[in-house]
Amino acid sequence: MTLLVTGGAGFIGSNFVLDWLNESDEQVINLDKLTYAGNLENLTSLRHNPRHIFRHGDIKDAILVCGLIKEYKPRAIINFAAESHVDRSIHDPEDFIQTNIVGTFQLLESVRSYWENLPSKANGECKTKGVNKTSFRFLHVSTDEVYGSLTKDDSAFTESNRYKPNSPYSASKAASDHLVRSYHHTYGLPVLTTNCSNNYGPYHFPEKLIPLMIVNALAGKPLPVYGDGQQIRDWLYVKDHCSAIRRVLEAGDVGEVYNIGGCNEKPNLEVIYAICGLLDELAARTDGINYHEQITYIADRPGHDRRYAIDASKIEQKLGWKPAETFESGIRKTVLWYLTNPEWVAHVQSGTYRERIQSPYIT
Ligand code: NAD
Ligand code: TYD
Repeated sequence: MTLLVTGGAGFIGSNFVLDWLNESDEQVINLDKLTYAGNLENLTSLRHNPRHIFRHGDIKDAILVCGLIKEYKPRAIINFAAESHVDRSIHDPEDFIQTNIVGTFQLLESVRSYWENLPSKANGECKTKGVNKTSFRFLHVSTDEVYGSLTKDDSAFTESNRYKPNSPYSASKAASDHLVRSYHHTYGLPVLTTNCSNNYGPYHFPEKLIPLMIVNALAGKPLPVYGDGQQIRDWLYVKDHCSAIRRVLEAGDVGEVYNIGGCNEKPNLEVIYAICGLLDELAARTDGINYHEQITYIADRPGHDRRYAIDASKIEQKLGWKPAETFESGIRKTVLWYLTNPEWVAHVQSGTYRERIQSPYIT
């Protein structure tokens, strides 16, 4: 049995592939474009694992995708591939439209050709007799940001919340979710969609809040807080997101959407202080100064969503999923991971290896 995973060299995708190969006997075909966010070093431990087959390429490349589908006849496809950083989407939205919208569309066309055993209009055709009509699934990994921003008095997002995306990133993910939904309703493609809250954990590229704060703190650099730092995110340890995806793949109802979250709403400043406190405990500055002294308030992100919060009762009640980590246990594991993996950090930070945009809000 084979799983085709897209974006499996990124943060969540690589954690998923590592966990999957650990917990099942199946083979994983990992298709990744290796953008600045894709990193084969995340998968170093799989170097000699014959059940992990990496292919460098774009989900938009129908010839490549159809070639993989025909060769391996996957029993499921999990789509992690995306441009994922809000700041970059504000700076330059083009890649978000190309990958998240056009890429998802092309991928869906390839999968439809496989599912229907029909030639595709795209250049590649996935017509092959391999698909198992009963068990095949296309699982699309998405975000809670498609629902927009909450006020402090609003209830947490449920699966029936209206889509109100506010950034080019969330708008592009919303579009991809709609395309996935439409391929189920129109063509009967057996899709599942998950909308998850903010993740954190190992292999997180240090442009997102939590890894950026850890690596900047250790490097003695400023810890940039956008605006007043009171924006709220609902944090989930990445391994819990992976276990939720496994559960949805295993038992989710076709055509359904599942929100995933850990009930860990925190204002950004609280998260930053928690990281600083752990670093004071585990890797104290030699000059005795507390890491929180490095906090620097900067201009706010344009259109900054104030609050996200996930109501995960559907996945909990219908599929019996629960996160294993609290925020306190997960953030400690995360800080420890960064402290014990300085080479990974040095590589992703080196200018020749991966570029990071300068924050557009630094005044
Ligand atoms: P990431 O940016 O770390 O990784 C994305 C991966 O996709 C990279 O390996 C990149 O090389 C690859 N990729 C990009 N464009 C591609 C293309 N055209 N073809 C093939 N591969 C391509 O992102 P992540 O944080 O791991 O997020 C994975 C998925 O989960 C995304 O769809 C994202 O929207 C979603 N998500 C992320 C979070 C979060 O907090 N990070 C929360 C909820 C949902
Ligand atoms: P981020 O990790 O970019 O995730 P998202 O925007 O998708 O939620 O940001 C999380 C929160 O942290 C968000 O409110 C923006 C804020 N933030 C900062 O205050 N400083 C930073 O340097 C970064 C990267 C984010």
